Amino acid sequence: MNQTEQTKPRKILVTSALPYANGPIHLGHMLEYIQTDIWVRFQKLRGENCTYVCADDAHGTAIMLKAEQLGRTPEEQIAQVQQEHERDFAAFEVSFDNYYSTHSEENRVLSSLIYERNKAQGNIVAREITQLFDPEKQLFLADRFVKGTCPKCGADDQYGDNCEKCGATYPAEELKNPRSTISGAAPVMKANTQLFFDLPKYQAFLTQWTQSGSLQEGIANKLKEWLEAGLQQWDISREAPYFGFEIPGETGKYFYVWLDAPIGYMASFQNLCDRREDLDFDEYWGKDSDAELYHFIGKDIINFHGLFWPAMLSGADFRTPTAIYSHGFVTVNGAKMSKSRGTFIKAETYLRHLNPEYLRYYFAAKLSGRIDDIDLNLEDFAQRVNADLVNKVVNIASRTANFVFKLGGKLSASDTNPELTAEFQAAASEIASHYEQREYGRAMRDIMALADKANQYIDEKAPWALMKQEGKAQEVLDCCSVGVNLFRLLALYLKPVLPTLAQQAEAFLNIAPMSWQDHKTLLLNHEINKFKAMMQRIDMKQITTMTEEAKAEAEAEAAAGKPKSILDDDPIAAEINFDDFAKIDMRIAKIVTASHVEGADKLIQLTLDLGGETRNVFAGIKSAYKPEDLEGRLTVMVANLAPRKMKFGLSEGMVMAAGPGGKEIFLLSPDSGAVPGMRVK
Ligand code: MSP
Ligand code: ZN
Repeated sequence: MNQTEQTKPRKILVTSALPYANGPIHLGHMLEYIQTDIWVRFQKLRGENCTYVCADDAHGTAIMLKAEQLGRTPEEQIAQVQQEHERDFAAFEVSFDNYYSTHSEENRVLSSLIYERNKAQGNIVAREITQLFDPEKQLFLADRFVKGTCPKCGADDQYGDNCEKCGATYPAEELKNPRSTISGAAPVMKANTQLFFDLPKYQAFLTQWTQSGSLQEGIANKLKEWLEAGLQQWDISREAPYFGFEIPGETGKYFYVWLDAPIGYMASFQNLCDRREDLDFDEYWGKDSDAELYHFIGKDIINFHGLFWPAMLSGADFRTPTAIYSHGFVTVNGAKMSKSRGTFIKAETYLRHLNPEYLRYYFAAKLSGRIDDIDLNLEDFAQRVNADLVNKVVNIASRTANFVFKLGGKLSASDTNPELTAEFQAAASEIASHYEQREYGRAMRDIMALADKANQYIDEKAPWALMKQEGKAQEVLDCCSVGVNLFRLLALYLKPVLPTLAQQAEAFLNIAPMSWQDHKTLLLNHEINKFKAMMQRIDMKQITTMTEEAKAEAEAEAAAGKPKSILDDDPIAAEINFDDFAKIDMRIAKIVTASHVEGADKLIQLTLDLGGETRNVFAGIKSAYKPEDLEGRLTVMVANLAPRKMKFGLSEGMVMAAGPGGKEIFLLSPDSGAVPGMRVK
């Protein structure tokens, strides 16, 4: 298909996988969002009608536990993380048209709809299964929350589904000495009815869909293997407690996070449609949609997008994706990202030290349409960015612009090297087709080969030498005008990758934002602005500082430990002197009233009598005490703690308790004889 001859813009909807709301964005993630963003920016630059949506993936056990660990509600946790994710993506110039959350009303409605429609088709079946259950935490355990001894090789500390030592896979109940990684308790087997999506019904449909030519070879082959091995029914329900959407028509059953996660793509788009007159949901998701739909994902989640997702969509009478574009994994310096080596680098950490466009360029230079892993070699990264962007591309402008400026600031009226400019212009269609195919590495190689030619031409002309000769001013202006025009074309071709550099170029060239078609024109007889430095070289020192910082961050996190409850989430306190101790005003307090706090699952509200004075305190002890059992008893409180504003009101102090958390929280109480208000020393 030749896009340049098409008159009507293509309607394209693009997504990146939804990052989990339980942790920060790191450079591994960034490969995906940068890859997608370059493609989207390219489509928009070409005038296509392209929309890019994403969201945080907010549901599931991991997020619920993470929130609990941090003493937050899941809602607080996901709001905080979403804000951090959006901040990092914006800093890396990822241009979402909408960024939303799977924990949204739109997603609840769409998930229910898709479930109900599949149910009406007979695609949902109920079956009783036995699963590992944590008797202490009272929840069913996914394989990754169980660890024990490998039944094959005897290696310790292996997960419930596979052994990292010998590579064996096994059902979790075969694990020896199993324990829950959440509570440490030994799991028991418990029977329970679960809901399944009847995936085997879609065997023929998926065989046809996956071989229809719209999938990358690597993905199609992988899916073929799974299909040939035969499909299994897919467990889509989870028991309470679970952070997610309750399944309509069931009690205490929730949609498994992977059911509503991809529906989050639709929900984010729906949310955008509600704000945008020009976008219509059904035009994109309806069965007869003529829009293109692409999901960019990592290779670890191909089964969800290549099997479950198209089957679910088809069962609910929606269109299926045009294609799934998958990429490999990021390694750093040839190995898996490592916290101890300082190569597990958060987006936020990177941004404190380096320009985001460096990474955008480096990933682009290494990306292809295949699913090979991509190594971020930090030394190569610095060299490549310096050699290509600073020494080649920006250099063309910096060594020609000043002469133009000195000679009046206006580019020549005619092009004195039409052969070279024509070569640059002709390259547009090849570069465009590389972008379209996600062969960014090839596009970058083509662009850098052009940059070499531009530099060669300037070297040969040597305007700095001509400038010293009598009567050569016009020749200098002509050659530098060619140089500036060539630079403009390179900045245009790089614009999907380097939007800020393109913007700086547009400002210097004194032109409106460039679109792809602008490669057909040149700037003649055109006034430009004074050239300002555009991109700094990378110094290896910046990189060392960054990895050292990443290492220190990881160490600090490890030292802070993985708290098991709100009561032991502070590390062992540092030594204090007597004066410090004397500052703490501990008092005997009487619990006058105790009550539940609406909307809080951990807190009990206490009214404490300090012998005349009363205090309002929120205590995180609900898992261990009933309010009615507390009224009337004595305990110990810190009375001079600065009042703290909480979501539910002002807390004016703290009661003292011991124990690991959960049911094991023990409030301190004085021996008989103590009265409210007495100082504890
Ligand atoms: N929440 C799911 C996706 C749901 S999509 C309906 C998820 N989240 S994730 O945060 O673990 O990953 C988000 C994306 O980043 C995935 O496509 C994943 O493959 C990608 N990457 C995560 N780590 C990566 C690397 N180290 N390298 C490259 N991509 C990586 O999966
Ligand atoms: Zn083993």
